[in-house]
Amino acid sequence: MKTRIYLLAICCLFLSSVSAQKSNKKKSKAVAEVATPVLPSGKALYFKNDPAMDRFITDLMAKMTLDEKIGQLNLPSSGDFVTGEAKNSDIGKKVEEGKVGGLFNIKGVAKIRDIQKVAVEKSRLKIPMIFGMDVVHGYETTFPIPLGLASSWDMNLIEQSAKIAAQEATADGICWTFSPMVDVSRDPRWGRVAEGSGEDVYLGSQIAKAMVHGYQGNSLADKNTMMSCVKHYALYGAVEAGRDYNTVDMGRLRMYNDYLPTYKAAVDAGVGSVMASFNEVDGIPATANRWLQTEVLRNQWGFGGFVVTDFTGINEIVNHGLGDLQHVSALALKAGIDMDMVGEGFLTTLKKSLNEGKITQADIDQAVRRILEAKYRLGLFSDPYKYCDLNRPKTEVYNQQNRSVARSIASQSVVLMKNANEVLPLKQTGTVAVIGPLGDNPENMPGTWSVAARHKEAISLLKGLKETMGDKVNFVYAKGSNFEYDAELESRSAMFGKNSYRDTRPVAEIIKEALEVAKKADVIVAALGEASEMSGECSSRSDISVPQSQKDLLVELKKLGKPIVLVLFTGRPLVLNQEKEIADAILNVWFPGSEAGYAISDVLFGKVNPSGKLPMTFPRSVGQVPLYYNYKSTGRPEKDEDKFEKFKSVYLDIPNSPLYPFGYGLSYTTFNYSDISLSSSKLQGNQTLKASVTLTNTGKYDGAEVVQLYIRDLVGSITRPIKELKGFQKIMLKVGESKTVTFDITPESLKFYNSDLKYDWESGDFEIKIGGNSNDLKTATINWTK
Ligand code: BGC
Repeated sequence: MKTRIYLLAICCLFLSSVSAQKSNKKKSKAVAEVATPVLPSGKALYFKNDPAMDRFITDLMAKMTLDEKIGQLNLPSSGDFVTGEAKNSDIGKKVEEGKVGGLFNIKGVAKIRDIQKVAVEKSRLKIPMIFGMDVVHGYETTFPIPLGLASSWDMNLIEQSAKIAAQEATADGICWTFSPMVDVSRDPRWGRVAEGSGEDVYLGSQIAKAMVHGYQGNSLADKNTMMSCVKHYALYGAVEAGRDYNTVDMGRLRMYNDYLPTYKAAVDAGVGSVMASFNEVDGIPATANRWLQTEVLRNQWGFGGFVVTDFTGINEIVNHGLGDLQHVSALALKAGIDMDMVGEGFLTTLKKSLNEGKITQADIDQAVRRILEAKYRLGLFSDPYKYCDLNRPKTEVYNQQNRSVARSIASQSVVLMKNANEVLPLKQTGTVAVIGPLGDNPENMPGTWSVAARHKEAISLLKGLKETMGDKVNFVYAKGSNFEYDAELESRSAMFGKNSYRDTRPVAEIIKEALEVAKKADVIVAALGEASEMSGECSSRSDISVPQSQKDLLVELKKLGKPIVLVLFTGRPLVLNQEKEIADAILNVWFPGSEAGYAISDVLFGKVNPSGKLPMTFPRSVGQVPLYYNYKSTGRPEKDEDKFEKFKSVYLDIPNSPLYPFGYGLSYTTFNYSDISLSSSKLQGNQTLKASVTLTNTGKYDGAEVVQLYIRDLVGSITRPIKELKGFQKIMLKVGESKTVTFDITPESLKFYNSDLKYDWESGDFEIKIGGNSNDLKTATINWTK
């Protein structure tokens, strides 16, 4: 009885702080106007000092045996047993024995309730478990892949997508998501670029904050919010040769300036947990790297949550060559890892290591405390069934409201890369031929890491077009080609229930059929690109082109002499030279999520004017990789990116410039940028510079433009990038309308980590650059002294 009253009191404390926070919440500004919402400081929000929590956990830990403590550090994958079988499964037995702290890969509130019941009714101390999942871009309602979401450059929408994901996942029993993935990457060969926000540390940091806030809301104690886990800490996006799980080797300056800030942004936003990455950092796997997990994460950044390994991350340290499982488990714990995903290195060896004096009781206690704190903050000690309301999924998951938002976000994420002769938007009349392996393939619409999606129910392009256009437009369809000529290669990307519907007829026959169908049409919509599992984990590619089978189809279609709109599906930047030549228009839709077909139709037929911008550079050749906009000048820079000059830093065979630069994306309308006007060109100390342009919609459609601010530090104590993104605003303009767009710039935007790893700025000249993509910018020069 006493404990009950105690728990009730704790609960009340939580609730009162929640409502106080709710009333403090600022109203977010209009979507079209400002892309960066002001978020409350996360760390203060989620990691408040809580003496009641401390006392509760101290008391609980005093009752725990060593085995029970080590059990809390264990995170198995469920194997997804059926309701009612929990007790009899191996996991069920372990839960009963107190050997499990949490579970993941389990879907369905009834199953989760079932296993939670074992934990809180059968285990000795009745400690509730946490339930995790890769809710990466939506739950059953899926949003575009993260690289697509990033293309919207709209932080309010991205935050909203995470909020809806949290609402659906929590309704179905999940309280912890392994998201956001914030690995900056400059290498499109790496398949996991699909899961992140691209190449830029500033954009990536804004998105990291928006997502953490979307998932965690104003309190972890709310039943609609879940704990976020930022991953993969750290530097995973810089794996050599773009090959997954490969070595990372990077100097500290690059780490601090270009790769670490996105993780730090998530920590500053108050992320509840961090996932260690598979790769090594400075010769020590991240999972065993004390400098990373404790010195930087906790001592420098003040992280207060817990750290989980990636899938068998501890066991893999053995392969990295640091010793046997007992040794590497001890290394991981000492480094600052708190929870062991799947591998059971902690479960099976920590006791022995403690007895042998290789780790201390304090090392174990610290990890246990951090995990219990997370459970406490989630409100699980007050109500272990808080996320187990069997009625919630019926109305809160995959409902019409969430799906409409997903449709709208998907249409905001597409990037128009070419539009010759204004072939788009399409006329709402005549016959349209939809041709290609992605033309009518629902399972491939949600994209990689969509574990909870209803793949078969996702809206294919053909279905979306037909349903949105009704009788106005006649649609004809043919597949035209397989994803790949090579069946074995194709099968590698037809996993996780993502059917490729391979057509086994001879190639000539498949193409002939498509040409017959396309002949009847006024315009051809070629739905080509990657199958969704051609990007994602362990989907590195050495050749990042559209597969040959689809290129050949496109060449044949071109011979019909009809306008061709390439609707490009991809999880990474591709090399598109040939496609750029052949297609009249290119609409890059990434993988748009469960509402794909509707969203693409909205854009193709002009209901939505595209406004997405690329978060990653598209190269001309894989030989240019890594290719990114914020490079540094060599001692022999080329004068003209597109011209060869001997003894300059260039290639013999191709220009240095990309095919499509970072920040690029067209609209159905056109925008004009005025020159930059400055509040002053000489500044001192902590002043604020106002830099403005007048943006005018000079075309025929209302539309939105992402106005981008870049800064170049012309002279530094270390070499500095030729430009760096420092701000952006998404501006909506009616036809003929003009608006003044102003950026407030303070010395904060001039800061970087110098040779002493001190974060500071230096007096001198700077270029302020504003425009619609990283290659097309107006420039003004200023001088700023301390
Ligand atoms: C991935 C993580 C993921 C984890 C759990 C790993 O293979 O690298 O991103 O969160 O599995 O599913």
